[in-house]
Amino acid sequence: MNPQRPQLVHDLNQIRDIVRKAQSAGKKVGLVPTMGALHQGHLSLVEQSASQCDLTVVTIFVNPTQFAQDEDLAKYPRTLESDLELLSQFSPVIVLAPEAADVYPAGSSTAVQPPDVGRLWEGEKRPDHFAGVATIVLKLFNMVPAEIAFFGQKDYQQACVIQQMVKDLNVPMEIQVCPIVREPDGLAMSSRNRYLSQSERKTATVISQTLEIAEQMMREGETETQVILDQCMQELTAAHVDSIDYVTIADPITLELVQTIAGPVVILIAVYVGKTRLIDNRVIQL
Ligand code: PAF
Repeated sequence: MNPQRPQLVHDLNQIRDIVRKAQSAGKKVGLVPTMGALHQGHLSLVEQSASQCDLTVVTIFVNPTQFAQDEDLAKYPRTLESDLELLSQFSPVIVLAPEAADVYPAGSSTAVQPPDVGRLWEGEKRPDHFAGVATIVLKLFNMVPAEIAFFGQKDYQQACVIQQMVKDLNVPMEIQVCPIVREPDGLAMSSRNRYLSQSERKTATVISQTLEIAEQMMREGETETQVILDQCMQELTAAHVDSIDYVTIADPITLELVQTIAGPVVILIAVYVGKTRLIDNRVIQL
């Protein structure tokens, strides 16, 4: 346990310098991109990086281009002080919190077109989201030319988009996707969980329960995804989630819809509980 707060850097030249110097000294650098409001899910990524790398850079930047007009950009939690506090338990960690004007200089108009794996599900519900994510992640990779970048499986489709982008654009970065971290009652950890009222927080447990039921049905031999999805819809509706964006069973690589299960699949769920949009997923390998 190191009670020292991590070094906080805002300047892009300074962070590049630090990373290059560490690498010239033979050190391996890990990158954990975040939008702050850190929780145990983020900390598990930092822990992974700390166990494999000599230096970890955590970026904190609430990226405006991945939010739609009607989404929660303005109210997205910004908790830099407590984030730094939480990161004090790891060493050596450097936090990069770049200025928006440096990330998106005046007049910038270049963006990454996300790969096909971003087309369905989140891609349909949040049309410009993955272009914003792919663009900022590539920018962060250029700002912090680490060896490995760590992402959470909670944002399953995002991880697919980033893995494919790195492949397609020959980006020299290894991507590691780390397991979802859950609350004791199963709710996947998310910065947005803090928006939930007490009763919404209770309702939200139905999401992981639904994943459990779907997996159970598969383990008991159900292969028709429509039968499983009907049951999932019933569970979510009975628990009074406020709306269901999608519940689907898809190929874990292409994310195309699967009709009849004959190999590994991923179940993806996106729902609103109150005004809060929550996503979760589970990969099933029978
Ligand atoms: O997963 C997130 O927190 C964000 O989408 C990311 C990858 C940091 C890009 O802004």
